Amino acid sequence: MSSALTDLFPHPIVQAPMAGGVSVPQLAAAVAEAGGLGFLAAGYKTADGMYQEIKQLRGLTGRPFGVNLFMPQPEYADAAAVEVYAHQLAGEAAWYETELGDPDSGRDDGYDAKLAVLLDNPVPVVSFHFGVPSSEVLESLRRAGTLTLVTATTPDEALAVQRAGADAVIVQGVEAGGHQGTHRDNPETDGSGIGLLSLIAQVRETVSLPLVAAGGIMRGSQIAAALAAGASAAQLGTAFLATQESGANAVHKQALTNPLFVRTELTRAFSGRPARGLVNRFMREHGPYAPAAYPEIHHLTSPLRKKAASSGDPQGMALWAGQGHRMARELPAGQLVEVLAAELAEASTVLSAFPQGGAGR
Ligand SMILES: Cc1cc2nc3c(=O)[nH]c(=O)nc-3n(C[C@H](O)[C@H](O)[C@H](O)COP(=O)(O)O)c2cc1C
Repeated sequence: MSSALTDLFPHPIVQAPMAGGVSVPQLAAAVAEAGGLGFLAAGYKTADGMYQEIKQLRGLTGRPFGVNLFMPQPEYADAAAVEVYAHQLAGEAAWYETELGDPDSGRDDGYDAKLAVLLDNPVPVVSFHFGVPSSEVLESLRRAGTLTLVTATTPDEALAVQRAGADAVIVQGVEAGGHQGTHRDNPETDGSGIGLLSLIAQVRETVSLPLVAAGGIMRGSQIAAALAAGASAAQLGTAFLATQESGANAVHKQALTNPLFVRTELTRAFSGRPARGLVNRFMREHGPYAPAAYPEIHHLTSPLRKKAASSGDPQGMALWAGQGHRMARELPAGQLVEVLAAELAEASTVLSAFPQGGAGR
């Protein structure tokens, strides 16, 4: 399905924004130059840090790109539970010879300051994770000439996105690597995440907006399946995390296809909000009792994750990855876009060979 969004780039392939230094300007530029939509991740950056990356990306490509923002989080954490978790992590701090972070280091991720920069210096696309911006914010971005996308993980969340006035919904299946963009973290719904193909079909029957499908997509054939189910484009994170231009730590990249890491799970161990990563020692030991407390736990574990990464220890880092991680290909990002586009074309030919109800009829 063509839309104002997909008219911006020739291939229906979006490189997911990946906070934590993964989706660097070089990655977004390579994807954009190859005909996909590249994304910068503003999460955990200052407004100025985000602006510097936008300027750098504009210097690398004249093609359209997107910037992703985290929504400010309501206060819902139980302070006592955060304190208990901090006690439980004391041994980790001693092992990595560092202090734990301050859990109260801010909960809005500089949202207003980042929005002000994006209104003063408009970019083609802005997407939002962890909630729905106000209609006023979406309208002011539209007036600035920016298309807006918001993540949803259920049909109800997709409806909220449409009602607020966004231009498209990113439907994120439970297979997805990194944080689930659930609008409100609720431990009672743990374990009820919806698989991508089922989610696209349900959301397609709930809202009329164009859909961008995310979660576990590693091959062009899966993009074809998502498009056939009703999406307009696919957003891939883990597949691009493995590429040469990605800023991911080398230990993280290698772990994706290392047979030591055979499973992914959703965990609150690192950040306090469900996020999917390769199961490692830290997740196994601390995941079972980590409290629902984002971003407090993110701040608390930040020095531990940094120290584990700088020591090359994959057992203490957040190895964010989607369920398809073993299919990762370490190609230049532009080449990955071309390979995915060729696989998509091939799969589309197969699909169109069965126009009337499938094989065998
Ligand atoms: C390392 C990593 C970091 C991520 N950071 C963000 C982010 O900053 N903002 C966001 O909207 N999504 C983020 N995501 C989620 C992606 O947007 C997307 O939903 C996910 O990567 C899709 O699943 P896949 O990894 O299986 O392709 C991240 C994913 C990964 C793997």
